[in-house]
Amino acid sequence: MILVTGGAGYIGSHTVLTLLEAGQDVLVLDNFCNANKKSLERVSALTGREVPWVEGDIRDAALLDDVFSQHEIDSVIHFAGLKAVGESVQKPLDYFDNNVNGTLVLCSAMSRADVKKIVFSSSATVYGDPASVPIRENFPTAATNPYGRSKLMVEEILQDLAVSDPQWRISVLRYFNPVGAHDSGMIGEDPNGIPNNLVPFVSQVAIGRREVLSVFGNDYDTTDGTGVRDYIHVTDLAKGHLMALDYLSRHDGVHTFNLGTGKGYSVLEVVQAFEKASDRKVAYEFHPRRAGDIARCYADPAHAEEVLGWTAEFDIEKMMVDTWRWQQKNPNGYSDSTLS
Ligand code: NAD
Ligand code: UD1
Repeated sequence: MILVTGGAGYIGSHTVLTLLEAGQDVLVLDNFCNANKKSLERVSALTGREVPWVEGDIRDAALLDDVFSQHEIDSVIHFAGLKAVGESVQKPLDYFDNNVNGTLVLCSAMSRADVKKIVFSSSATVYGDPASVPIRENFPTAATNPYGRSKLMVEEILQDLAVSDPQWRISVLRYFNPVGAHDSGMIGEDPNGIPNNLVPFVSQVAIGRREVLSVFGNDYDTTDGTGVRDYIHVTDLAKGHLMALDYLSRHDGVHTFNLGTGKGYSVLEVVQAFEKASDRKVAYEFHPRRAGDIARCYADPAHAEEVLGWTAEFDIEKMMVDTWRWQQKNPNGYSDSTLS
């Protein structure tokens, strides 16, 4: 059985669905600080399988010991953590406590239970402002904010852990920009309050929840002056976790992979793709650059293809069509959705 921490969240719920469809058994551990239980009910409805879950915090060592002793867990996919860059600058201690201390408590409990296989959610943010693109896994790492630093610290801790005990099997997955939703439109990203990220914001403008998109910067050294990113469909990302876990059944040590498509799209290209998918206009206006943003960020995904046999299947069109379906079926996310 696979323990999925943060399994009720955006990427977690899509991964749980993929795991269940592949015939795996899962147990979700989530404190629901940024998730709604409906996501798990819907995964259950979509797969026709129960989704067992425990409400609790990864920082609760006694709870983790109970979980590991009561269930036959052989591996962990670790999504649980806080992820808002701006908030991390305001509340660094919360971020280090959840993301770094939380992972320490989790790995210690895994060690006590002799469960030494983990897939960790890292981020392309660990590359800081890369000297060139596409970005390969051996590029230098850097952090520019507490969120990014927490991801880098965990990566380093996991490296040290593997050196200390060769039984550990660890995969570090560096996600580029996850977007989209399951193509049923039943599960998707449900940000709290005003979205920080581009695609949820664009989607809320299209549905009429927000008036106008602020495009942060039109003077970058890119084709149209707006920032370029590697958007990846969350279902492709979910599949990457399955393949990383499978790889760990055959290999020990630490294995780090970029999960991206290798293609970069500008903010304006995303807006256009969304307008096409939704057949709605997305009003936007230019604003100054957002602090901490970079001009270009996209992956070289060759390592994941060569080693895991993983590549992203879905293009930007499908990412936007699926986001729009989710948005239309759930105009206000999970909270007051009319779907059961
Ligand atoms: P999310 O907020 O939707 O999911 C995180 C889940 O973890 C939520 O369900 C939340 O309730 C839970 N959680 C948080 N702290 C917890 C704790 N202490 N104990 C138990 N549960 C806890 O975020 P997501 O987008 O699904 O991201 C999943 C992971 O991927 C995170 O670690 C995030 O940093 C990383 N990541 C996300 C992105 C992205 O753009 N979404 C990009 C790169 C990396
Ligand atoms: C952000 C985080 C990154 C995190 C990632 C996924 C920052 C600086 N970086 O990445 O650490 O891993 O989210 O959660 O916050 N944009 C607009 N208007 C908006 C929102 C975004 O123009 O309202 C632009 C941005 O300037 C950027 C692009 O859209 O060029 C993508 O932004 P976003 O979705 O926030 O992702 P990142 O900044 O790449």
